[in-house]
Amino acid sequence: MKKTTVICFANNKGGSGKSTTCANVGYALAQSGRKVLLIDGDMQLNLSLSFFDEDSVFEMAAGAKNLFRVMQGRAVLEECVTDTKYENLWLVPSSTLMSGIEFELFPKLQREFILRKALAAIKESGKYDYILVDAPPTLGTWVINILAASDKVVIPVEASPWGLFGLANMFEFIGEIRGIAPQLEVLGITVTKVSERKNYFKQTMQTLAESGNYVFENYVRVDVNIEKAQDESQPVIAFSPKSRSSQEFIALAKEIDEKCQ
Ligand SMILES: Nc1ncnc2c1ncn2[C@@H]1O[C@H](COP(=O)(O)OP(=O)(O)OP(=O)(O)O)[C@@H](O)[C@H]1O
Ligand SMILES: [Mg+2]
Repeated sequence: MKKTTVICFANNKGGSGKSTTCANVGYALAQSGRKVLLIDGDMQLNLSLSFFDEDSVFEMAAGAKNLFRVMQGRAVLEECVTDTKYENLWLVPSSTLMSGIEFELFPKLQREFILRKALAAIKESGKYDYILVDAPPTLGTWVINILAASDKVVIPVEASPWGLFGLANMFEFIGEIRGIAPQLEVLGITVTKVSERKNYFKQTMQTLAESGNYVFENYVRVDVNIEKAQDESQPVIAFSPKSRSSQEFIALAKEIDEKCQ
């Protein structure tokens, strides 16, 4: 049977490119023939908005088939899988009610493992090659759930003066989670929103290289097409396949795919 790899995109630093990377890597993997299930783990709904217009996203968020309902134990994950308009690519939408997820999890037994349990059957079925989870910019019980349910974590880091702040915390946090979820591996750090002409890009790359963590060779540069695509509820690769960032995301997805084999 096929193996399903669960990869989450996490960094407690907000705006580091998690959702954009998750959406585009997912789309590129699907285009290359991999079967991909995306899970929107953030109440900001950004991953869902990368594939559906606002009205549809809010409708799904308020409905009975979204991740919050799964976490409440009121729906099974398989029932919440929604088709996207793209081949090989499916989504479990989020809900704005995820703002209350910490309270929802608190009284539950083994509260760190609720997502892992919710994913067990779908992972076991081997229906997908990859399950990609977009994490919010927090480090609470919900993100512990995401990390504990994942085989790999990709950490998007913005090439900016503040981009590396908090990264040490993130690694410490991951180290602690490995104590309860030893399967979890850092697949690598991916550098986003790069402007090569700026000094701190070089500094960022150097600091990351010295940290001893794997840094993906393919980074993504600043590209206005990304926001234009998001405005059209599309990943940039679908919106503007020839754009620079599309090519960069396709190369990054290939690197991720190869590293997972
Ligand atoms: N390569 C890029 N070029 C230009 N803009 C980008 C690029 N990557 C991301 N952005 C923009 O940066 C912002 C933050 O990106 P994104 O939402 O993916 O980050 P995030 O880490 O998911 O944020 P949050 O922590 O809030 O979940 C978005 O407005 C997005 O359009
Ligand atoms: Mg996000």
